[in-house]
Amino acid sequence: MLRSVILAAARSKRVERLVEKAPVSRDVVRRFVAGNTTEDALAATRELVADGLAVTLDFLGEDTFTAEQATATKDEYLRLLAALDAAELTPEAEVSLKLSALGQKFDEELALANAREICAAAMKAGTTVTLDMEDHTTTDSTLDMLAELRKDFPTTGAVLQSYLRRTEADCRELAVSGSRVRLCKGAYKEPESVAYQTALDVDKSYVRCVNTLMSGAGYPMLATHDPRLITIGEDRSRWFDRSGDSFEFQMLYGVRPEEQRRLARDGYTVRVYVPYGTEWYGYLMRRLAERPANLGFFARALATK
Ligand code: FDA
Repeated sequence: MLRSVILAAARSKRVERLVEKAPVSRDVVRRFVAGNTTEDALAATRELVADGLAVTLDFLGEDTFTAEQATATKDEYLRLLAALDAAELTPEAEVSLKLSALGQKFDEELALANAREICAAAMKAGTTVTLDMEDHTTTDSTLDMLAELRKDFPTTGAVLQSYLRRTEADCRELAVSGSRVRLCKGAYKEPESVAYQTALDVDKSYVRCVNTLMSGAGYPMLATHDPRLITIGEDRSRWFDRSGDSFEFQMLYGVRPEEQRRLARDGYTVRVYVPYGTEWYGYLMRRLAERPANLGFFARALATK
């Protein structure tokens, strides 16, 4: 119920304006977002890499509706990749993209052309790109664009969401040699017709997908903070005889940082998803929807301002 209300607010321009104006927002944002600029992103990446963690960087923004905005987003990714290369932070750092920020909602060809340029820049910098997955209305389009991009940039990664009923089948399709698949639970509000509605069903689907990906020939990227699912991931790595560099765990910047370091110390590859930029509203609201404790943090911060 609370999750639905927050996810509805995530789509509301009115609530967005209110939250952005709240003086406390900066403090809360700082916990989950690395900063506004390319330099902030580089500084956070340097720190994480020095701690033995890998990174994927996300320039915040989604649902772009003009070609100019989409081009500006693409240009920032090109700038970022050149800066990562110059700072010798690749291949430890890669980038994550939302196709909706590159024009997917109004011009799929433009989004694909923008993504192609970013993939080429990533290849030149010696690193990779992962396509974030957004709400279910974009899944087919995103997987189609992934297939196109993989023809020229075979390491381009996909994200699959265990809350979608279709995802087990998508995992089977993508558990092939050379394929990189990030498995997450899913962060959007989805109808029962396409998505499991209870946490138990979403978790059970996650485990079935872990089994498919870890027993397959691809490179699984297990994105979760859930202690039970992490333990199951560790267990399956032993069961399927996977070495620490043949799959990875992924977590979000600011979430369970001590667990990120514990897994890295235990020999696993751990990648931290680092968002930066000023368009943090939708991202922050999805983080709040995931965890009432984060909402308490937000409310406490508001009360003390
Ligand atoms: P969930 O939120 O259900 O939490 C399960 C348990 O984890 C909690 O009970 C608690 O024990 C622990 N936990 C969670 N948060 C914690 C905290 N802050 N502190 C302490 N313990 C905590 N989604 C999407 O739709 N498309 C995408 O492209 C991506 N991309 C993506 C990349 C990466 C690297 C990650 C980690 C996640 C995503 N997501 C995503 C988000 C994902 O779908 C999901 O919404 C969040 O990861 C939250 O789900 P969890 O699996 O962490 O479990």
